[in-house]
Amino acid sequence: MSGTGRFLLLSLFLLHSLVVVAGQEQADTTPAIKEAPPGGDFTLQSADGPVSLRDFRGKVVLLYFGYTKCPDVCPTSLAFMAQALNELSPEELAKVQGIFVSVDPRRDTPAGLKEYVEYFHPKIVGVTGTEKEVADVAALYGARYYEVELEGSAFGYSVNHSAVTYLITPDGTLRFIFPHGTPPQVIVEAIRYVLSGK
Ligand code: NI
Repeated sequence: MSGTGRFLLLSLFLLHSLVVVAGQEQADTTPAIKEAPPGGDFTLQSADGPVSLRDFRGKVVLLYFGYTKCPDVCPTSLAFMAQALNELSPEELAKVQGIFVSVDPRRDTPAGLKEYVEYFHPKIVGVTGTEKEVADVAALYGARYYEVELEGSAFGYSVNHSAVTYLITPDGTLRFIFPHGTPPQVIVEAIRYVLSGK
């Protein structure tokens, strides 16, 4: 397929997907994001010190909000993100960064997050902050999350959260929002499209 044809396909897929994301809850455990999030810079803590979105100017950033005790939604999303990263050439991969923001800062430590995300891919960094800091970043991206008590579970509570993956361009602009379950190949196409400077 030609580059133009491929992008048309991508655009149509994204257009359709964005309508779905904005229009309805996808499932009980993955609330929809708030509409038209502005995005923007933020700084949170990783195991290796503070991480700012600004640190990755010049790179495409894939951003995701979740938590390490998530039974299946986060592992699926991170596995798809890792599959997309693994499709890239070394030159392309050098211009891409994944960020996993924990919305469960009471249980997710920066050290625990590092171990968790590196299991999926070394180009994903895990960050979190105080409950207010995390809430402020989530608000920028329209991400939603809330705790649900679990009776008879050692975990005590789960966190239902929106499960989209955000693509941020090398100049820091929120450009694409992929619904949960978006095939890795679509994410790869979007990364290549943005890296091509269009
Ligand atoms: Ni999750």
